[in-house]
Amino acid sequence: MKNILELQNITKSFGNNTVINNLKYNFQEKTIYALMGANGSGKTTLFNIISGLLDSDGGSVVFNSHRIDGFEAHEVAKLGISRTFQDLRLIPSLSVYENILLAFKNKPSEKLFNAFLPSRVMIHQDKIEAILEQTHLKNIKHSKAKDISYGQQKLLNLAVAIANDFELLLLDEPVAGVQPEYREEILRLIQNLNKTVIVIEHNPEFIEALTEHILFLDEGKIITEGDYAHIKANSQVQEAYL
Ligand SMILES: Nc1ncnc2c1ncn2[C@@H]1O[C@H](COP(=O)(O)OP(=O)(O)OP(=O)(O)O)[C@@H](O)[C@H]1O
Ligand SMILES: [Mg+2]
Repeated sequence: MKNILELQNITKSFGNNTVINNLKYNFQEKTIYALMGANGSGKTTLFNIISGLLDSDGGSVVFNSHRIDGFEAHEVAKLGISRTFQDLRLIPSLSVYENILLAFKNKPSEKLFNAFLPSRVMIHQDKIEAILEQTHLKNIKHSKAKDISYGQQKLLNLAVAIANDFELLLLDEPVAGVQPEYREEILRLIQNLNKTVIVIEHNPEFIEALTEHILFLDEGKIITEGDYAHIKANSQVQEAYL
């Protein structure tokens, strides 16, 4: 299998707090990974480095055999890396449908209202309908993002992230605070994408059902990987986390 993403000796410090320390890992195509680690262990920081929001202090990020470290976030997105954020970043006063439509805005310079031109809406209509179906948001597509439940907002966040073409999807705690019935929908959706997905998650049942490729981040490195039973049995993991 081909590597889609290679992290080569990534290091990142904030002042004298070294968060990522010479981290190396190769992610394979069409594989689901869960990224675990204690609070403050650097999971989100790693996503920020991969997605171009943060520069590392050293090392390289290789996506599809091309170095992308130093690229701007919008350039990284255009190459096929999509992500969600730990905090929800929806536009509250816009509808569910409009929030997804906005994801098709492909240049940062493009004016917001262009996304709502009837021609643009026509082009993307079928795809948006399919995403609404997949994320179980069809019945509430005209509701404003601020008026739907937290679980539905999480699903909408995911819908926005999958609206653009991508090969690698980074999900930062997609089920945190979400009720069980939505968790299952999110789980199935991730598994049916048939893409490489890296999911930061704390919920053990969710992780166990999601994937056998669990990575554990501690002291700035991936210290172990394997299925949930394997991770749980690791003494360093127990010390750091359980
Ligand atoms: N922009 C920043 N400036 C300074 N320190 C930061 C910054 N971003 C993160 N940190 C620090 O880096 C460390 C790792 O933070 P990060 O958000 O990556 O952790 P995390 O593993 O995602 O934690 P959580 O599970 O709580 O979301 C923390 O000590 C945090 O305070
Ligand atoms: Mg985090």
